[in-house]
Amino acid sequence: MVKVAILGFGVVGSGVAEVLTGQGDGLHKKADELIELKYILDVRQFPDSPFAGCFVQDFSVIENDPEVDVVVETIGGVGAALDFTERALQAGKSVVTSNKELVATHGPRLLAMAAEHQVVYLFEASVGGGIPILRPLSDCMAANDILEICGILNGTANYIFTRMVQDGIPFAQALKGAQANGYAEQNPTADVEGHDTCRKLCILSSIAFGWHLQPQQVPTKGITQITLEDAAYAAACGRRIKLLGRAIAEEDGRICAYVEPHFVSLENPLAGVEDVFNAITVKGTATGDVMFYGRGAGKLPTASAVVADVIAAARQLERASYRPWQPNRPECIVSPEELATQWYVRLAQGELTGERLTIDQGQKGESGWLTPAMTKPALEKALAGKDVLAVIRVLD
Ligand code: HSE
Repeated sequence: MVKVAILGFGVVGSGVAEVLTGQGDGLHKKADELIELKYILDVRQFPDSPFAGCFVQDFSVIENDPEVDVVVETIGGVGAALDFTERALQAGKSVVTSNKELVATHGPRLLAMAAEHQVVYLFEASVGGGIPILRPLSDCMAANDILEICGILNGTANYIFTRMVQDGIPFAQALKGAQANGYAEQNPTADVEGHDTCRKLCILSSIAFGWHLQPQQVPTKGITQITLEDAAYAAACGRRIKLLGRAIAEEDGRICAYVEPHFVSLENPLAGVEDVFNAITVKGTATGDVMFYGRGAGKLPTASAVVADVIAAARQLERASYRPWQPNRPECIVSPEELATQWYVRLAQGELTGERLTIDQGQKGESGWLTPAMTKPALEKALAGKDVLAVIRVLD
């Protein structure tokens, strides 16, 4: 019997408790002979919870209990979550998490610490919610060199933009819907400014390329500046706007990674990914494009990925672990400024070389344009002196 402690009883932590004990969607059936929930750590009291008897407020109870084999960290952030993760690993307990900020920032050290103590540190739920992506990328695609990762990695941002475009509701109202559904981070700035996508891209890249790509090395732009007019111009040229995380391997092995909204052609399956859904395209040397799709956030999809890792930790400790990540390689990072693509530009007035786009609801004097393929510095030169309202990269 493997005994589990959950740290944090928020959306994900409570979902893990439900699924583990059979109060969720029945996934527990594969684990119930193996796994028992012993503790839940939270500073709050939950006297009416069916798990009321499991609550503790002092992490040392879990740390010092030799019966606890697996600790599930769903606190989030890099404060207490880091401290408790290190202490759990040092106490010889495997740790499973959905905490992308912690993995993206401290992943290599925590993986090494887990290996040193002959336990595992697993984080399938940190990317893509309920989508199986990290183990397939790490194991099932192991025969490939990865050429590119391109994905919609934040359910909240995708939900907000889908609701704004389809229902015509304002940004703030769409964000409230994402929060009510349990999709958004405690501070939703990370969702809408692209930082959450950036952390997930770093985790995917570190697994795919074998060395630690750090969030501060990835230029990141979110969705807060995008308007419904931009969405109308996208529709006018057969495209949709999607916030994408992209990591491209150059022929010399350097990596170009960035997070930005893109115009995505309706012919690309990423354009049809709506609401809370995420999708990740991985291009391998042998496989070509492989696509992963599913619910990218939410209580039970995320709990599903966490509980799968708990089962993996319980069943086969060594085989479950990810390959260690080598240290960061700053010399292997290429700026996206040099990536030549088409661009969408909205001008307050004036003209531009390229294809002119027209929409019914356009403001007087404004115009939308698709430029020829060019780098960012070349675009900036072409836009010098013009009254520019919006610039969005076009996915090739
Ligand atoms: N806030 C995240 C999202 C949760 O919306 O994608 C899942 O990582």
